[in-house]
Amino acid sequence: MMSAAKELITLGIETSCDDTALALLKGRNDILSSVISSQIESHSEYGGVVPELASRMHQEMIIPLLEDVIDSSGINDPAEDIDLIAVTAGPGLIGSLLVGVMTAKALSQAWKTPIIGVNHLEGHIFANIAVNRELSPPFISAVVSGGHTEIILVKDLGEYELLGSTRDDAAGEAYDKIAKMMGLGYPGGPVIDRLASRGDPKSYLLPTPLSSTGKVEFSFSGLKTAAANIIRNSAKTGISLKKEDICASFQKAVIESLLCKIKLAMEMTGIKRLTLSGGVASNSGLRRELREMAEEENWELFLPSPDMCTDNAVMIASAGIDSFLRGNRSDLLLSPDPSWEIW
Ligand code: KG4
Ligand code: ZN
Repeated sequence: MMSAAKELITLGIETSCDDTALALLKGRNDILSSVISSQIESHSEYGGVVPELASRMHQEMIIPLLEDVIDSSGINDPAEDIDLIAVTAGPGLIGSLLVGVMTAKALSQAWKTPIIGVNHLEGHIFANIAVNRELSPPFISAVVSGGHTEIILVKDLGEYELLGSTRDDAAGEAYDKIAKMMGLGYPGGPVIDRLASRGDPKSYLLPTPLSSTGKVEFSFSGLKTAAANIIRNSAKTGISLKKEDICASFQKAVIESLLCKIKLAMEMTGIKRLTLSGGVASNSGLRRELREMAEEENWELFLPSPDMCTDNAVMIASAGIDSFLRGNRSDLLLSPDPSWEIW
């Protein structure tokens, strides 16, 4: 029998990209256990995620991780104790999504447990809700990751309006591509972040993209080309390039672009509550400057810890239980949608 609403236990499953993640969540905020297996090392030598390799690795890891997440949660009988299975059903890589969804469906049938498909972006929005009891809509959510740069108006939980997104590359994608050009490996974000802290952001003049369009929109591909030209010219002329300075200059332009458009979204809506999530939200420079801006502008800012910014299954469980309690259901016909949108 299902327990009282606040005590429901949800198994979250996330396999949309290159992290196999599972979590058990009690209610909306009580994390019983959370495990992640990152595939970074396997993809690093290719400078980006190789979809075929990603799905094979999810397939290898998902059952051992399921055992780990149950063992470390303190629950005894998953069939009896788990009330809901929440699984990422899109957007993402189809082969990767299929591993999570098929596993969730098999468990749902074996345990006779309800299942719900969760949107990965809604998951990132819920990364903040999963760790903050006091956060309630309306708020502006900036989701900045390897696949997304979206500014979303969260009118209510489950009710979203896209205020703006990127015209081309996502912010994290630009980090990853620049890192690849400089031979810094994958993912580029953490290493560029580290090098940037030792460089001079004024050494190369990189433009802040679309800063004066008056619209909430981003473009990172021009910035990537400008940085690529600097790298190429230095190779041609033999003038040595200080990687730290390029990283600092690139990071400065990305942060300025994000801050300028977040500010515009806050002004346009008049909302004073802001959440940030997605892999790029773990960037140290962005976190520092956004905190400063929030203080100046008197915004209430919610920034989860870096491990909740990057892909994880706690956020999927949290979005899943909330959607379930709002009356949404999936069934065994659930199939992944690689380009699922929530607006
Ligand atoms: O949210 P996430 O784990 O996966 C996606 O849904 O994309 O984000 C991964 C992205 C990668 O592009 C990675 O380079 C970027 O987040 N990232 C960072 C940092 N840590 C991860 N970007 C900038 N600074 C960081 N510290
Ligand atoms: Zn993500």
